[in-house]
Amino acid sequence: MKVLVTGGTGFIGSHTCCELLDADYDVVVIDNFSNSKSDVIDKIKKITGKDFKFYEGDVCDKSLLNKIFSENKIDAVIHFAGYKAVGESVAKPLMYYRNNIDSTLSLLETMNEFGCKKIAFSSSATVYGKPKSLPIKEDFSLSTTNPYGSTKLMIEDILRDLYVSDNDWSIAILRYFNPIGAHKSGLIGENPNDIPNNLMPYIVKVATGELECLSVFGNDYDTPDGTGVRDYIHVVDLAKGHIKAIEHILNSRGVDAYNLGTGHGYSVLDLVKTFMDVNGVNVKYKITDRRPGDIDACYADPSKARDILGWEARLGIEDMCRDAYNFVKNVKED
Ligand code: UD1
Repeated sequence: MKVLVTGGTGFIGSHTCCELLDADYDVVVIDNFSNSKSDVIDKIKKITGKDFKFYEGDVCDKSLLNKIFSENKIDAVIHFAGYKAVGESVAKPLMYYRNNIDSTLSLLETMNEFGCKKIAFSSSATVYGKPKSLPIKEDFSLSTTNPYGSTKLMIEDILRDLYVSDNDWSIAILRYFNPIGAHKSGLIGENPNDIPNNLMPYIVKVATGELECLSVFGNDYDTPDGTGVRDYIHVVDLAKGHIKAIEHILNSRGVDAYNLGTGHGYSVLDLVKTFMDVNGVNVKYKITDRRPGDIDACYADPSKARDILGWEARLGIEDMCRDAYNFVKNVKED
């Protein structure tokens, strides 16, 4: 079976390529390195001992997509490619809508033309907005608070409409909770060049001394220790969820959304303390004001993915903290 992975050199995409290759899928990747580095290609090959085809370019580029589908008989697509920084999306909404929506439309049109109607889409728990209760189930109402989230929700709607128009499609919408961690090899992971927006990359940069102090955004939330609670999920577990989703859509029709989370919530301070314990490093932090738009707590009910896809997260926050630090130490030693 041949799977096209858009954004396959990114954080989640690269780990998913490893899992696909390990599971003996043929893999074709398209990426324009807008938020990744080209050396990831060789690292995926080194980890898996397997080769795959790579096309450098933009998913908005229909002529490139045409070439890829003409040169490869693609059975299914995993669509990761897209901009993903919440703050940037607020500052540059047109860029986000143009890129994320345009690329998806180009991809779906090309898939339709080539009769490839199986896709797993990289969505986010951000589509639940401020959930009415916890844990979050897939049938909760959907709303968004920023253009990035809106692009995810719009694409979900496009996919649902597409299925209504043509029941041959098989579509898995994967709603990620908070992916962190890295591959245990230490070769691939997340290491943003800019000052990170997200918690774990920030913790790591404080631990390595690149940044001085973590700001904990608020300790007056309605949570056990007052800091924000999230469902952190190891990126390798998340990647394995994609393999299960692909197995499912290859053998079914329909459109369905699945929460990919662990079902457990940890606070900012839980994560910081666990990181310090498992890695034996200090992470200096201070409590600051809340970050606008943040919610108290967010964690998944992942039972639908367990019951239908046969997937469950296995790794704990100790693994996530250890692997995230191991990767960045490795990068710095290179
Ligand atoms: C955000 C996005 C989500 C995206 C996810 C991973 C929204 C509302 N959120 O989730 O869509 O999938 O990133 O890319 O769209 N925190 C600090 N200090 C920091 C950074 C974060 O205390 O320097 C706290 C936050 O207040 C929050 C928790 O850590 O309680 C997690 O924050 P973050 O890693 O940014 O993820 P989310 O905001 O949950």
